[in-house]
Amino acid sequence: MCGIVGYCGARRASEILLEGLRRLEYRGYDSAGLCVPEDRRLRIFKKCGRIRDLRRIVPDTLTATSGIGHTRWATHGEVTDENAHPHADCGGDLAVVHNGIIENYSVLKAKLESEGHSFRSTTDSEVIAHLISSFYDGDLERAVKDATPLLKGTYGIVCIHRAEPGRLVGARNGSPLVLGVGDGEVFLASDVTAVLAHTKQVVYLEDGEIVSVSADEYRTTDPSDRPVEKKIEHIGWELEEIEKGGFPTFMEKEIFEQPRSIERALRGRLDRTNATAHLGGLNLSGKQLLDIERVKIVATGTSYHAGLVGTYLLESISRIPCTAELSSEVRYRNPIVERNTLYFVLSQSGETADTLYALRELKRKVATVLGICNVVGSTIARESDGGVYIHSGPEIAVASTKAFTSQLSVLYLFSLLMGRMRHLSFEQGAEVLERLEETPELVAKALDQHAHIRSLARKYSGARDFLFLGRGVNYPVALEGALKLKEISYIHAEGYSAAEIKHGPIALINETTPSMFLVPNDRLRDKIISNMKEVKARQGKVIAVVADGDEEIGEIADDVITVPNTHRLMYPFLMVVPLQLFSYYCARELGRNVDQPRNLAKSVTVE
Ligand code: M6R
Repeated sequence: MCGIVGYCGARRASEILLEGLRRLEYRGYDSAGLCVPEDRRLRIFKKCGRIRDLRRIVPDTLTATSGIGHTRWATHGEVTDENAHPHADCGGDLAVVHNGIIENYSVLKAKLESEGHSFRSTTDSEVIAHLISSFYDGDLERAVKDATPLLKGTYGIVCIHRAEPGRLVGARNGSPLVLGVGDGEVFLASDVTAVLAHTKQVVYLEDGEIVSVSADEYRTTDPSDRPVEKKIEHIGWELEEIEKGGFPTFMEKEIFEQPRSIERALRGRLDRTNATAHLGGLNLSGKQLLDIERVKIVATGTSYHAGLVGTYLLESISRIPCTAELSSEVRYRNPIVERNTLYFVLSQSGETADTLYALRELKRKVATVLGICNVVGSTIARESDGGVYIHSGPEIAVASTKAFTSQLSVLYLFSLLMGRMRHLSFEQGAEVLERLEETPELVAKALDQHAHIRSLARKYSGARDFLFLGRGVNYPVALEGALKLKEISYIHAEGYSAAEIKHGPIALINETTPSMFLVPNDRLRDKIISNMKEVKARQGKVIAVVADGDEEIGEIADDVITVPNTHRLMYPFLMVVPLQLFSYYCARELGRNVDQPRNLAKSVTVE
């Protein structure tokens, strides 16, 4: 959600902070601010809008070599300059940036007000500054240690005090915080993209830990104030991966990257000798894998849609019962954990609060929970019993695209592994492997349709409502198509099983509500054609995504997009591509900010 960056070193902090905030802008982009100690006082600059708006009010003359910055995604309090972070105590001696939600802020605020503190903003975060300040007695680290146990909720915070200008103190509980260790400089950030331009050496803080940072050292303590020896880890991402690389937007870059990102998800995991998959991080023996009787997938948003596709893959390829459920529902329904059940939590960011809390609840019930994440070292990846990285590379656009196809790749691999242990013959396993190997090339061919899809976006972007309809393994793809369209173009869209429309949604159909039908060349094709005809009979416009060579559909649908002909279980990889492109081009037609759509943020670290 919000982005945090802090710096202690020898360079001009304001420049480093602004640059770090620019990289973090995908996490939240309604307002931003920074604070640097200058001339024995704290100078705070805050502004509604984008980082470029903040840059305009930050003087070039600042020389401080430490400071903190923040980019906000509003939770408590409207989007105003006052509500932007950093927040200061009454005297402006101490400032803090915060990511998360302080649930008991109103109780704390009332108490602090009764002690004489006065508040400037309507945020929950400001209470942290006043609270730490009330404990401050010349030692910021001590004050943070005394104050944080009183905070209920989630936080990643970094604070600075006027009297200790070369020191930052950070703390985390439920919101990520990472240290970047450079040469004579140390960074604190909510995610590694903010520090990647400066260092690849990072240290991940755990919940309850507090870190005190200066230019050439950092010290971490646990909740009982015992020193913690932290391991330095190496970030595998390259700087170019968090740049647009010649594309106008990150989303476009990420859509077109998919042949390569799928390849990366498969790399080193195709075991041709045994016609199976090799997944190193599962931390389960062959015997334990064989004992698994059912699989449950837990995720939100696009990851949930990938999980739904996974249920079809697992059941078809491995013949293991599999269901997918929304994380937020799992968390609060007192889930029943049965023996021999394997849970997968799917999350691109590895930080989604709903999924993380579901994971924790499942672990409290002693479930075996594996993570499928993109961000290495993320909280979900670390708290799972094991798992598989999808290796998509950084996904910066708020709308998730390449993570979806990489998640499918991993779910496919897992299905193959489980299938081979059960009923799949060597030849059948080899066939599945072959299909996986050809996927990047087929996805590249699906991408070749981009100019045609762009022309369709021109034709249809004026619609107010859209339906996306698929069946079987492509039903979740229809859900994903609708999510993509609504989140970046703001056109209202619904995804349904094509069979379901006659049970209600068909009432929406008229000449102004187009439907996008997914029509693979499989056993459901004829059924879908019947559904399509039902829509045409009611003057609905139809765009059909069909397999190459399927001429018949052209006679029914108003417009057709083709994808390569493939095995029935591989269509989700190909069908999702035109839907991503269609949403993207519609959003561009409508002049939307594609990478940072309104009201959204990349990783949703609040419930
Ligand atoms: O990081 P995660 O995969 O856990 O994120 C899940 C959703 O928040 C995410 O997919 C969201 O729905 C995207 N905006 C979809 O494009």
